[in-house]
Amino acid sequence: MKLSVIGCGYLGAVHAASMAELGHEVVGIDVDQRKIEALAAGRAPFFEPGLPEILTSASASGRLSFTTDMAAVSGATVHFVAVGTPQKAGSYSADMTYVDAAIDGLIPFLKPGDLVVGKSTVPVGTAARLAEKIRAAVPGADLAWNPEFLREGFAVKDTISPDRLVYGVPSDPEAGARAKALLDEVYAKALGENTPLVVTDYATAELVKVSANAFLATKISFINAIAEIAEVTDANITELADAIGFDARIGRRFLNAGVGFGGGCLPKDIRAFGARAEELGRGESLAFLKEVDAINLRRRQRVVDLVVELLDGQAYEKKVAVLGLAFKPDSDDIRDSPALDVAVQLHGLGADVKATDVEAIANAHAKHPQLVFVDSVDEAVADAEVVVLLTEWKEYRALDPNAVGALVAEKQIIDGRNVLDSAAWRAAGWTYRGMGRP
Ligand code: UDX
Repeated sequence: MKLSVIGCGYLGAVHAASMAELGHEVVGIDVDQRKIEALAAGRAPFFEPGLPEILTSASASGRLSFTTDMAAVSGATVHFVAVGTPQKAGSYSADMTYVDAAIDGLIPFLKPGDLVVGKSTVPVGTAARLAEKIRAAVPGADLAWNPEFLREGFAVKDTISPDRLVYGVPSDPEAGARAKALLDEVYAKALGENTPLVVTDYATAELVKVSANAFLATKISFINAIAEIAEVTDANITELADAIGFDARIGRRFLNAGVGFGGGCLPKDIRAFGARAEELGRGESLAFLKEVDAINLRRRQRVVDLVVELLDGQAYEKKVAVLGLAFKPDSDDIRDSPALDVAVQLHGLGADVKATDVEAIANAHAKHPQLVFVDSVDEAVADAEVVVLLTEWKEYRALDPNAVGALVAEKQIIDGRNVLDSAAWRAAGWTYRGMGRP
């Protein structure tokens, strides 16, 4: 099939390359010339395992091209909209400027029979509004909503073999069946025999996405709230999470207490969902998400407080090593990163912070040039009075307490992700502090 993907950011670039990998002929469109040039040359504009490989193989096959010229969508029948919906400045709502611009830019090139497929995370009600606009402008063209559940670090795998697919299709039975048939054809090779497929209306499809992210965020904040109780009772949150996670109704995943969640999705999605509920007159239904957000932000403060405590109440001019800047491992993404936030706060307290990361230094430096970044753990920890682990890269999980101990001024470590063997670090002479662990 001939497909276009409007928006070649994180979601769109992965989607375009993955669709080409599945055998489709794909054109990716973006307004950012530099991004398009990189992608066209087979270079991923961000770190994502597996993406460079499929970009190269898809480009070599001739099935994948990138351009800034919207007219290039003309040859395609299915048009994915994968632009960003960031948090609006000064508000909790989603900024819909890019989605609206994408639809307005696309409409002049649509033909009857074309299907526009929304993938961006949007406030419920958006799809119905956009569908009316498309149908009015181009009779015979239509819209479906097909939310994306990919996780950074696993984006290619999640796109090529998704754990489920959701289609929000037009309510008219004929138009709905046509949209479903087109999406089935797009995903024929991605849909395994047992891949669950939910075909539903627009509003449900839109809500599935934000509900899934709200649930995941709630699960993390739940365990972090219990970690706060564990901290004042000398209980062990990791053992507690294991024990409740054995209940299949609860499950162990997303019960890792620590410095909390960040990234380009969970934080902004729970805020936008709450803002949308308020617009709909149902603010009280999602009021708990404010608490989820507040618990999450308190964990960052908790790490800062622990650092100050280990430095005898004064961080000013003390040497602090920060290990990790990305919002999670296997990513160079620093959007709403708890790790970077903690580094910035410590710097703000006058600490002499040396920060490092496996992939995210360039992004962190571009956003916070006031911080000092170093390329290796050894440089970060040299003469440090406290070491703070904030992103659980496998390289940091595997650190040897004796080797690191030989470099620091004071053997004090805060494990912001509860990934180190506390007994081994203590045995090597370290003061170890976890998050909700005695
Ligand atoms: C998330 C959703 O998982 C994905 O389905 C959706 O499409 C986009 O948003 P992503 O942002 O890539 O994906 O990251 P995810 O793996 O969900 O992690 C989010 C944050 O939660 C990270 O900062 C991570 O460190 C944190 N986290 C995760 C915890 O603090 N504890 C956990 O137990 C799990």
